Amino acid sequence: MQYIGFILSFLINIIFTFAFIPTGREFHSSILIDKKLYFSGGVLSAIDVTNELFYLDFSKSFKITNNASIPWVDLTYTNGPLKHSATACIGGNNNDTIFIFGGFPYDDYFVNQFNTSKQQWTNITTNGPTYREDISCAKFNNGLIAIFSGYINNLTFAKNDLWIFNSLTLSWSLSNATNAPSSRFGYNAITLPDDNILYIGGSNPTNKSLYMPMNNLPLYNTKSDTWSSMNISGPAPPARVYFSTVLTPDRRIIIFGGRNETVLGDLWILDLVTSQWSIGNILNPIADLALYGHTATLMDNYMLISFGSFLNSSLSSRIFMLNINVLTWVDEFTLTDTTTNVSNSQFSGLMIGALVSGVISVIIFIGTIIFIYKNYERFNLYNYLPMTTTKPDDSDL
Ligand SMILES: *[C@@H]1O[C@H](CO)[C@@H](O)[C@H](O)[C@H]1NC(C)=O
Ligand SMILES: *[C@@H]1O[C@H](CO)[C@@H](O)[C@H](O)[C@H]1NC(C)=O
Ligand SMILES: *[C@@H]1O[C@H](CO)[C@@H](O)[C@H](O)[C@H]1NC(C)=O
Ligand SMILES: *[C@@H]1O[C@H](CO)[C@@H](O)[C@H](O)[C@H]1NC(C)=O
Ligand SMILES: *[C@@H]1O[C@H](CO)[C@@H](O)[C@H](O)[C@H]1NC(C)=O
Ligand SMILES: *[C@@H]1O[C@H](CO)[C@@H](O)[C@H](O)[C@H]1NC(C)=O
Ligand SMILES: *[C@@H]1O[C@H](CO)[C@@H](O)[C@H](O)[C@H]1NC(C)=O
Ligand SMILES: *[C@@H]1O[C@H](CO)[C@@H](O)[C@H](O)[C@H]1NC(C)=O
Repeated sequence: MQYIGFILSFLINIIFTFAFIPTGREFHSSILIDKKLYFSGGVLSAIDVTNELFYLDFSKSFKITNNASIPWVDLTYTNGPLKHSATACIGGNNNDTIFIFGGFPYDDYFVNQFNTSKQQWTNITTNGPTYREDISCAKFNNGLIAIFSGYINNLTFAKNDLWIFNSLTLSWSLSNATNAPSSRFGYNAITLPDDNILYIGGSNPTNKSLYMPMNNLPLYNTKSDTWSSMNISGPAPPARVYFSTVLTPDRRIIIFGGRNETVLGDLWILDLVTSQWSIGNILNPIADLALYGHTATLMDNYMLISFGSFLNSSLSSRIFMLNINVLTWVDEFTLTDTTTNVSNSQFSGLMIGALVSGVISVIIFIGTIIFIYKNYERFNLYNYLPMTTTKPDDSDL
């Protein structure tokens, strides 16, 4: 009988050694670096903010309907910031560093940095913006990153200020433009190929029912430090917050989901060449799929929709994947690139390593059982158990 707990915890540890599968979450931040899609923080339940950090490895094919095939890699042991509703952009001298801005709960560090090469977090202290959430950062040339406005849990401080962070010198400068658009949160910022930043959607921090129009979009010019706007004739998507945006190489902006007074699951496409919105009719729509507080990432021809909150307010642990060329939901991520054999063999190397250490664990386990069994009379098994059961967890470090 006493062995059952031991065996169970051993098996659970073995399973965790082999596979990390993230649970449902919303208001996380995500960013693609070098074929790795990183996820940081977010909300796991009404009372639970997380500092989990992990990535999805695109150097391998996988099937989103088969949990075990999804190449997740957990980096939570790096002890990142406990935040939700923050935003992540790439910066630094090698484009290898994630910068996380804002989020809630507020703390002394508005900027957190994760160097993906060193796998190390740094808290950044600078003179710049403080305390704001539901912002969207936009990286432009030479390591510069812009953030605009946001939600502040104390309305007297809500502002329509635009700040530029230099990720090489870790310093801020405030925009001098005088005609900035009104304050907003829950919007999406996208850097266009001409170095303008386009601001889509969101709503007013002092009155959440005042949504930003979708047919008149603010444009910030990063070269001249001035604001203008993109006027769009014809149909426009319903107003929304907490949606996702990607920019395709052929200059289409695709937005998905979000919420206004209702949770949305629609797809809209803004053609930057004609400056027109059109609704994206998905050929194989998923019944009742509506999400907000998710993130979207473009990888080859796929738009990945990660996590978020469903219409029924349960949190999604799923990845949805849309082929953006034919607007079809697909299950399988297959590489279109030919330079991936090296990474694949690295992955098999890892798998072999995991298998070998698994086999060694099993041998040690059997040896331990035999040892305990042989010494049962003079060995206090009850005292021995806690030490043994906590040990496999240390291998995460
Ligand atoms: C995949 O993993 C998630 C998170 O643990 C779980 O909620 C979901 O039910 C799993 N899906 C399948 C098909 O096993
Ligand atoms: C990240 O770490 C690498 C390797 O140590 C280093 O070369 C690089 O400069 C670091 N990046 C930043 C932004 O500190
Ligand atoms: C970082 O990436 C951008 C393109 O996103 C590129 O223009 C820039 O030269 C890169 N910087 C470095 C230091 O590699
Ligand atoms: C960053 O600050 C937080 C909160 O004060 C602290 O818990 C954490 O250890 C710090 N991280 C680093 C890498 O210094
Ligand atoms: C605004 O003006 C100040 C003072 O001239 C300057 O240092 C700063 O870089 C300017 N901000 C931007 C975003 O250009
Ligand atoms: C917020 O905006 C909505 C929509 O315009 C309006 O009906 C409502 O009265 C506003 N609420 C407040 C407190 O101003
Ligand atoms: C919210 O979305 C719904 C569904 O598309 C739409 O009917 C409604 O007009 C939108 N509300 C606002 C304020 O735009
Ligand atoms: C909520 O909706 C999602 C997506 O339609 C579905 O997968 C899930 O089972 C639903 N959860 C509950 C508790 O009804």
